[in-house]
Amino acid sequence: MPPIIQAIRGMNDVLPEQTHLWQTVENILSRIVAAYGYQEIRFPIVEKTELFKRSIGEVTDIVEKEMYTFSDRNGDSLTLRPEGTACCVRAGIENGLLYNQLQRLWYLGPMFRHERPQKGRYRQFQQLGVEAFGMADPLIDAEIILMTMRIWRALGIENHLVLHINSLGSPAARNDYRTALIDYFSQHTDKLDEDSQRRLHSNPLRILDSKNPVMQPLIADAPQLLEHLDTESQQHFDELKSLLTAAGITYQINPRLVRGLDYYNQTVFEWMTSDEKAQNTVCAGGRYDGLVEQLGGSATPAVGFAMGLERIVNLMTEILPKERGQTPCAYFIMADTLARQRGLTVAERLRNHFPQLIFIVDAAAGSFKSQFKRADKSAAQFAFILGEDEVRQNKITLKYLREEKPQEIFTEAELVKFLGTKTQA
Ligand code: HAM
Repeated sequence: MPPIIQAIRGMNDVLPEQTHLWQTVENILSRIVAAYGYQEIRFPIVEKTELFKRSIGEVTDIVEKEMYTFSDRNGDSLTLRPEGTACCVRAGIENGLLYNQLQRLWYLGPMFRHERPQKGRYRQFQQLGVEAFGMADPLIDAEIILMTMRIWRALGIENHLVLHINSLGSPAARNDYRTALIDYFSQHTDKLDEDSQRRLHSNPLRILDSKNPVMQPLIADAPQLLEHLDTESQQHFDELKSLLTAAGITYQINPRLVRGLDYYNQTVFEWMTSDEKAQNTVCAGGRYDGLVEQLGGSATPAVGFAMGLERIVNLMTEILPKERGQTPCAYFIMADTLARQRGLTVAERLRNHFPQLIFIVDAAAGSFKSQFKRADKSAAQFAFILGEDEVRQNKITLKYLREEKPQEIFTEAELVKFLGTKTQA
């Protein structure tokens, strides 16, 4: 036999036992973002490399070492999108959606980053992104955070996430701060690791984001960005904090939150799990008032976020009880050809009555014993048995697969009634 071809490392299949969870999450997300007036936008998976270099920044991990970049047959440099904000802005400018207009847009789809794969970190991952254009008021920053909170509640994970916020200030204030950081770290070059040495002059803010334990004491004593805020950014941040407090949202101010993409100013935020492991941010975003202009549009304030669906699904699978997963109601077991015909049609009618329930009809045939084995494996609550007697009497035997109860014999009408009372319970 030829060797099996495997998927690319860090790129995963979503198997049938997980797809219902993905569908539930996707439905909840699209329903909630629509309730805030957001409209879906779809853009290509591949863009010109220049787009990401100019927006995310040349000296970022993403652009320096994580992009899937290739030359196409014309020799153009193209890149599989590592994130959606740059694409959304590009599409917005190109299609005239942003000029002098307010836009609330969302997108859902795969992003690609050549990172070292581990749990929660993949090379192809799914993001839901939300971007609001034309609004400079901190009210919209607060509203998108409220929207994320509503999403966590709907998914049942709100008690497992903590909101971290920070302000990066105006570009001018950030420049001041940058100088202060370079001064500070230059006095300690001997303690800087290789990455930080390289970043010292190109992107010193990113040194604060280092996960290297050896660097932590140095980082802890570094000047703080919030001390360098300009008045306008300070006001923006204060107003955001009071809006969040008034809405009952608890947050932590995290002066080390600088984000890994260069386009942000003022508000930045991340929702993290309390899990101390590295991949604990499920949702992240902030304000990027300069990006539209930087990509050739007219100056347009903007704010948004993206959440990683794998991280959400992983969290849900870890914390939600197994019974929240959708298991079949019943598994049909049938004796012979006549019983199989009947099973097929009864199952159809039950699906009409109970569209929310799952019925599986054994299609592999074989002995009762092997059908029972498959019924058990399916995790169904009941087996519906159609033997020769049942077919003759026009009845169905119900066997409890997960409880110690005697089996029961029903007519089809009685079975519908029985399932009706079960689904109401
Ligand atoms: P980001 O922080 O790079 O921001 O990614 C947002 C989220 O995508 C992360 O919090 C995480 O949940 C998920 N994510 C990122 N990388 C991976 C990975 N390798 N594997 C699994 N999940 C991952 C952005 O992408 C910005 N575009 C967010 C934004 C939108 N800012 C403003 N608007």
